[in-house]
Amino acid sequence: MTSLNGVVDLDVAGPTISRHLYGHFAEHLGRCIYEGFWVGEDSGIQNSAGIRDDVVQALKDISIPNLRWPGGCFADEYHWMNGVGPREERPSMVNTHWGDVVEDNSFGTHEFMRLCELLGAQPYVSGNVGSGTVAEMADWVEYLTRSGDAPMSRLRAEHGHAEPWKVPFWGIGNESWGCGGNMTAEQYAQLASQFATYCRNHDGNELYRIAAGPNRDDYAWTETLMKSISTLGGPVEERHHQRWQALSFHYYTHASDDWKHKGSATGFDADEYHATMVNAWRIDEIVRGHSRVMDAYDPDATVGLVCDEWGTWWDVEPGTNPGFLFQQNTMRDALVAGLHFDVFHANARRLVMANIAQTVNVLQAMVLTDGAQMVLTPTYHVFAMNAGHQDATHHPVQVTSADARSEGDHGSYPTLSTSVSSRDGSALVSLTNLDLDGPATVRLDLRGRDWQVGAARLLAAPTPQAHNTVEDPGAVAPAAFDGARREGSTLVVDLPAHSFATVELTLA
Ligand code: AHR
Repeated sequence: MTSLNGVVDLDVAGPTISRHLYGHFAEHLGRCIYEGFWVGEDSGIQNSAGIRDDVVQALKDISIPNLRWPGGCFADEYHWMNGVGPREERPSMVNTHWGDVVEDNSFGTHEFMRLCELLGAQPYVSGNVGSGTVAEMADWVEYLTRSGDAPMSRLRAEHGHAEPWKVPFWGIGNESWGCGGNMTAEQYAQLASQFATYCRNHDGNELYRIAAGPNRDDYAWTETLMKSISTLGGPVEERHHQRWQALSFHYYTHASDDWKHKGSATGFDADEYHATMVNAWRIDEIVRGHSRVMDAYDPDATVGLVCDEWGTWWDVEPGTNPGFLFQQNTMRDALVAGLHFDVFHANARRLVMANIAQTVNVLQAMVLTDGAQMVLTPTYHVFAMNAGHQDATHHPVQVTSADARSEGDHGSYPTLSTSVSSRDGSALVSLTNLDLDGPATVRLDLRGRDWQVGAARLLAAPTPQAHNTVEDPGAVAPAAFDGARREGSTLVVDLPAHSFATVELTLA
């Protein structure tokens, strides 16, 4: 039995955990947009204006705060004008990144904005830097957000939407070091400044512009970008206002560093399980590493860090299109998600947004669809159980002792992770036991406020390979949990092997 002991000061407020750390990402890739969201008005699947109702309801149930679209790599070959106007007149294109399929542009700007309205989520639009122009991006911003008698607002009105939308989040390209143009950091820094300049704030719509940051732990890229805004001169608030306000990075978890053999989503052994967890824990050093670089240029954290692609990336399910990135989702994926959220919470001062890749039918999805049927994944349940952390105050856990570690060929990693937040008279404690075989106990001395144990939930399964299917959609599902108790001022939680739990506390 392993354990972790810690102290939490409930009367000491850490940073607010932005709800946008629970953000999502939907790309024109495989069956994410088409089938996953968009089925068309004539579909036999119940839909609202062509968007399937079951998926929307499932995502509303986990309080989806934002949705990033249209890519990913796709964003840098997407020309938005082809996706507006009468659907039957929209030109098609080849989706060269994902399956080389022909994209008919039937899901475009209006459909995306409608989707966001149905979800109650804020749109995060990724603009095209790699193959687009400054004017094209500027026009898109105008089309979406400007009212009155301007060229793009007139066009939008002709297409059936007289009123402008609000678009808070705007991406300046994607992975510009790779699929988004194969640029150097210096090249991109100049372009980001140029493109961002022409992404105007129209009619009170305040854009939060997000520059395409580094891959994984490429701290030099972050440094180049931070330098590029620190040399502009003028008061810091104005500088950031004129250019971009945040930079993003991407980090995916695999069971190996060999891209050709990322590992099976379901058919993994103990060795791959440990390799996965070693890789998942790297998110901790990566977030801290980028934050350290940013702190040197921006100690007050006025520039945000965004992790707008994260999650597990396995080999595609046998027999499916390799370009569609369709993978199953097991209890192991849920544990990876639980761990990431603890890291995100702990870094909420600098980390303002995160978007799991991708929402439906692609990579570490919340929802898998099969025709008219829909399955909620174990990862979905972690988002649901953790929803109470959104916009809550983080309370750091000071670990006083822990013997929970796994040592192996792939390296050593802590097998227990936890985080605590409070909001409106209640607190939420999340606990992840990564130990493959053994139970664990977490003891948290909760100080500064009186509290009582409230509802507790457990996500556990007999094996980490357990997953949900259309035939057995409830194989991995949260259940009421009696493993949490109060002993004096200490919350004691007994966790089964490879499990995730949440405990609500009522604060006096
Ligand atoms: O999420 C799949 C792809 O991963 C995205 O299109 C790209 O940005 C990243 O490499």
